[in-house]
Amino acid sequence: MKAYILSGSRNPAGQTAQAIGALAKGLQSAGVETTTAFLPEYEIERCRQCDNNGWGLCRQNGHCVIADDFELLFQQLRLADVVVFATPVYYGDLSESMRAFTDRLRRVCTVEAVRLGLQGKPTVGICVAGGGGGGAAECCVSLNKVLSNCGVDVVDLIPVRRQNLAVKLETLEIIGRWLASRPQSR
Ligand SMILES: Cc1cc2nc3c(=O)[nH]c(=O)nc-3n(C[C@H](O)[C@H](O)[C@H](O)COP(=O)(O)O)c2cc1C
Repeated sequence: MKAYILSGSRNPAGQTAQAIGALAKGLQSAGVETTTAFLPEYEIERCRQCDNNGWGLCRQNGHCVIADDFELLFQQLRLADVVVFATPVYYGDLSESMRAFTDRLRRVCTVEAVRLGLQGKPTVGICVAGGGGGGAAECCVSLNKVLSNCGVDVVDLIPVRRQNLAVKLETLEIIGRWLASRPQSR
């Protein structure tokens, strides 16, 4: 079983990374192979809205016209049994790298054949408000909204605040073990 984790933070030692680490620890303790990709390290342009009616060419041909790292990351999500979207909370919302990626993802997932690659995939969202602690819940709503257009099965969304980080790390480890114990059939 494989889990692919996307981080919207670039800090390998930050609070988002700690949250990912706890979830990964739970997954790994149950034998799941985990890979984490830090989105700011990848080239992911924002959607170009590449035709005049706004739907874009991906709606017809099923792939994005932009030649960057999006496709590579998308294929990794397709191959995984479990996917995780973890973002720091910026302005009560997703980080820019997570926003750019998920905005592109929902576009290509408009095409049913593409969407089938992610359909029903167990997915966890983690939103880490590491400053004042505000906006974690709003960020979860935002993440859920964009993921709901992608066909994945959002099995959990975890708001984390700086003030409850310690207890959430324990929770995330448990969630990792729980994810690994779920039946693989979708
Ligand atoms: C542009 C920006 C906006 C932020 N907005 C919020 C916010 O709305 N709420 C909050 O609690 N923290 C906010 N923070 C703090 C981040 O959530 C915090 O630094 C987070 O832990 C960063 O995660 P990282 O260390 O994993 O990269 C913001 C930080 C930045 C840089």
